Amino acid sequence: MDNEKRKKLTLDSRMVFYPPEPGSMSISDPIYMASNFQYTEEIYNRVLDGARKEVNIYSRCGNPSEYKFEEQMIYIENGDSCLAVASGMAAIAITLFGLLKSGDHIVSDWTTYSTTHEFLDHRFTDFGVETTFVDSSNIEMVRQAIRPNTKAIYFETIANPTMKISDIEAIVKLGHDKGIIVICDNTFASPYVFRPLDWGVDIVVESATKFIGGHNDALGGVIVVKSKLLPPDIIEKIRWSTLTKLGGALSPFNAWLLLRGIQTLHVRVERMCSNAMILAKYLESHPKVQKVWYPGLPSHPQHEIARKLMPKFGAMLCFEISDERAAVRVLDGLELCTFGASLGGVRTTTQVPSTMAFLDVPPEQKKLMNIRDGMIRISAGLEDPQDLIADFEQALKKI
Ligand SMILES: Cc1ncc(COP(=O)(O)O)c(C=O)c1O
Repeated sequence: MDNEKRKKLTLDSRMVFYPPEPGSMSISDPIYMASNFQYTEEIYNRVLDGARKEVNIYSRCGNPSEYKFEEQMIYIENGDSCLAVASGMAAIAITLFGLLKSGDHIVSDWTTYSTTHEFLDHRFTDFGVETTFVDSSNIEMVRQAIRPNTKAIYFETIANPTMKISDIEAIVKLGHDKGIIVICDNTFASPYVFRPLDWGVDIVVESATKFIGGHNDALGGVIVVKSKLLPPDIIEKIRWSTLTKLGGALSPFNAWLLLRGIQTLHVRVERMCSNAMILAKYLESHPKVQKVWYPGLPSHPQHEIARKLMPKFGAMLCFEISDERAAVRVLDGLELCTFGASLGGVRTTTQVPSTMAFLDVPPEQKKLMNIRDGMIRISAGLEDPQDLIADFEQALKKI
């Protein structure tokens, strides 16, 4: 199938299909488990002539298994180019270090993954890049934070852990009118639920560790670009200017696992979204639950925007009970669901965001982010929904 035809396939078919490896015609791509590659005089001369991606040199700079995963991600996110790296945080850090320099300014939502927030609030400031934190669901606040040196607006498509959704069309318009690029972390949504580049976002960063891999066994991250504001070769610029300097290359084995993960992404996330909706409705009617945050519920503050942007409402939800100790007791009492870090895998996974993912975020910042002590975050998995309800029912009896 030629590339034009491949692009026109439905998303579901694009996830399953990739061409066989030429030569062997293997329909499962081989894993190029190599740190380095052999030169010939001809290869040597081509490298001197500037052909750096076309020939394999060293796997920190690029590896055929990584390229195959990148190619598939371009079809899944509808991008023009992609760089795959060692983790979601590598994708975020490499993007920001690759694009910004001392004296630049970012406007970021104040509700982002805690490590992203810390990176922007502390580490990046040490390099002279300042961030103004705003509520990106409030477009006026975003507008007022923009300065002459603002280079990027950053937010999560579904924000961790309150599932906040911003008006992406309005942010893109505001940014592009001023020549500012828009970067989205699409981890919580997954490319099955939402594809930011289709809505004008310039760069999507994503932890492939989560829904894309989907089996809690591989770390990875992607940077996918489609932008009128950035040069067409920006991904290769970032590869050579930043990835090769910071390290953080994706391992070939993980690239292969993530490539395999994509092939079932649509069926997994479809079922996970359905389980999330069933759990959200069950929890909203539970007498011990004070509040549920799920974009699919009419009670969610951005439910209408979610309906406009997304055919499904994602597999992530959050609910609040009396306090943090009670939350820990409930999660420890779960027998089927897993109490622990991460999300997006086949098993339902739960955590207390305020003292786990957001442990190092100061209390006043947590207040702004609307992170409360008794919150429990759920990543809905693939179990039978009635078994999930029964598990929460018995665990909630423990408080
Ligand atoms: C929204 C979001 N972005 C990025 C990351 C970082 O991903 P990784 O753990 O693959 O570095 C996470 C991790 O939980 C996340 O939740």
